[in-house]
Amino acid sequence: MKIQRLDRLLSGTGRWSRREVKLLVRQGRVLADGAPAPSPEAKYDPEAVTLTVDGETILWRENTWVMMNKPAGVLSATEDGKGKTVLDLLPAELQKLELFPVGRLDKDTEGLLLLTDDGQTAHQLLSPKYHVDKVYYARVNGCLEESDCRAFTAGMTLADGLVCRPAGLEILSAGLESECMVTVQEGKFHQVKRMLAMRGKPVTYLKRVSMGKLPLDAALGVGDFRYLIEKELNVLRNSMAGIS
Ligand code: URA
Repeated sequence: MKIQRLDRLLSGTGRWSRREVKLLVRQGRVLADGAPAPSPEAKYDPEAVTLTVDGETILWRENTWVMMNKPAGVLSATEDGKGKTVLDLLPAELQKLELFPVGRLDKDTEGLLLLTDDGQTAHQLLSPKYHVDKVYYARVNGCLEESDCRAFTAGMTLADGLVCRPAGLEILSAGLESECMVTVQEGKFHQVKRMLAMRGKPVTYLKRVSMGKLPLDAALGVGDFRYLIEKELNVLRNSMAGIS
């Protein structure tokens, strides 16, 4: 990794602006290998130096990963002429990092949305080739039955001829309205809604609860986000078949 200016390194985490880094350095709150950093322009090899801010060790990473609990009413796109996107929910410092959502959730779908600038891993998480489960909680109109589960397991063909890979359907409650968990390894347009609609059970509420072995942080309020920690990134990577 290339040697970089301290202000670039720290603002690259998305946590501080360059101006804030300048102030932190001036206040002696940034230590490089235990000694106060002399200036924001000082250059370091991010893989060799230990940087701390107010005593917290800053883990340098090539890429940024953010977990968001997406609210309904917001588009999971990077830009949209008409409406609010998930990027609008991020602070200015993170907006500068050119993050993009890892797969799309519909405007009215809530739940786990990852944002990153790591194109390769994002692609792998979405590709059916790597068998990463995406699990959704759904409420539907109508009474779910075992025959619906069998249809999901067999792999459904949708009204327009689209063939879906085998998927999972676990019934949580069944009645005039039912609740279920749906597991898919692909992300075709409106897939979960279309699969359930095909069984005559239209979705009234949809929330993604996990991607691979990474669950949505239950402490994350709707519309909130936080950085993924190293352990979670490893969990994500370990969710991909054939990648170690
Ligand atoms: N399937 C859907 O139908 N909608 C989503 O937002 C995600 C998966």
